[in-house]
This record gives sequence, structure tokens and C-alpha cells, in this order.
Amino acid sequence: MAQPPAKAKTVGELSAAAAACQGCDLWQEATQTVFGEGKEGAPMMLVGEQPGDQEDLQGRPFVGPAGRVLEQALDEAGIDRRRVYVTNAVKHFRFTRRGKRRLHEKPNAAQVRACRPWLEAEIEVVKPGLIVLLGATAAQSVMGPAFRVSKQHGEVLESPFGIPVVATVHPSSILRSVDDKSRDAAMSSFIADLMVAAKQA
Ligand code: URA
Repeated sequence: MAQPPAKAKTVGELSAAAAACQGCDLWQEATQTVFGEGKEGAPMMLVGEQPGDQEDLQGRPFVGPAGRVLEQALDEAGIDRRRVYVTNAVKHFRFTRRGKRRLHEKPNAAQVRACRPWLEAEIEVVKPGLIVLLGATAAQSVMGPAFRVSKQHGEVLESPFGIPVVATVHPSSILRSVDDKSRDAAMSSFIADLMVAAKQA
């Protein structure tokens, strides 16, 4: 299974089919496919990069450290996470082993391309009013390789799906801030972008 079944009408049907996806090599090392979560008809869809270590083990998107930053930012932007559909551009964890640790590795262009039909199918089934692209991988998967989050974050843009999008940073970039001052600035900017999205959704 490398393609979503055309007859899938619900997130549950898509998720069940994606569990067997071998559309790229990532299924071999990952624990499981981590599909999106939320309801059909959710007003807002959030798209991240790929599941991390915790997400891979638990089988749910954004349940690790980046998820906690996301939760806090959504809360401060006045967005109820229960009304949001959360997913990733790539549905398997890509990592390298360092001793017992599994270190995140960015998915390559072929892996992002192989997973795009699943994202397209999710968008088709969920029909969100607005899509928030978290970080460069999600933004480029949807808007093309020339898209730069640093230049166009916080703007309401038209996507190829005919659904407006707002791009912003990935929450894990906030975790990588070098000091408190830059972390606070990055978080404020992230929340401001989410508030733009909240007004539209
Ligand atoms: N980072 C992502 O992009 N997605 C997740 O689900 C977790 C971390």
C-alpha cells in the first residue's frame, strides 16, 4: 500500500490504510505509521514535519516536547486543540541511532513526495477552513520548494488546494532557542502567526 484508497471517506479509513504504507523506506525502521488526528470538518488543520521519538512510540502526532510547545502556543492564541486536526507532512519517524538514542533526521524530498498523497487525502476528507503549515518541510510540501517560512510566515496565502494557508515556524525550533530572550521572542512570533490563523478559521 503506497496510495490512499480512492473510496476512503473518513479519517479512520485513511488511517487504517496508511498503517500498511510502504511508499518509501521509512516504514522499515519506524515503529508505526503516525496518522493525523481530529475530526472531519475541523475548522483548522495543523501540518507538522514528521513524528518524533515519542510520537513514533505512542502512534499519535505532537505528543512529545514539540507538542507541549504547540499546546501552549495554541492556548495563548485562543485556539482550542480539540477543534483542530493535527497531522504531519511525513507519517513515519526518520532517525539515526546514537547509542540507545534515536535522533531526529529531516525527511528527504523523495520521502516528503511519497507521503504527499496521504496529506492530500486528509485535506480532501477533513475539508478544513484553513491550514497552518508548521516549519519548512510542511510549508514546502504544500507550497513548493521555493517557499520560505522566514519571508512569508504569518500571511494568509492561497494554497494549491484552494484552501487558505498560514505558514509559521515549527514548535521544535523554539525548543532549540539559545537563551530565554530568544525563546520568548520566537514564542511570541509563533503565537502572533497562530492568531492570524485563528482570525481566519
Ligand atoms: N514534530 C512534528 O513535526 N510532528 C510531530 O508529530 C512531532 C514533532
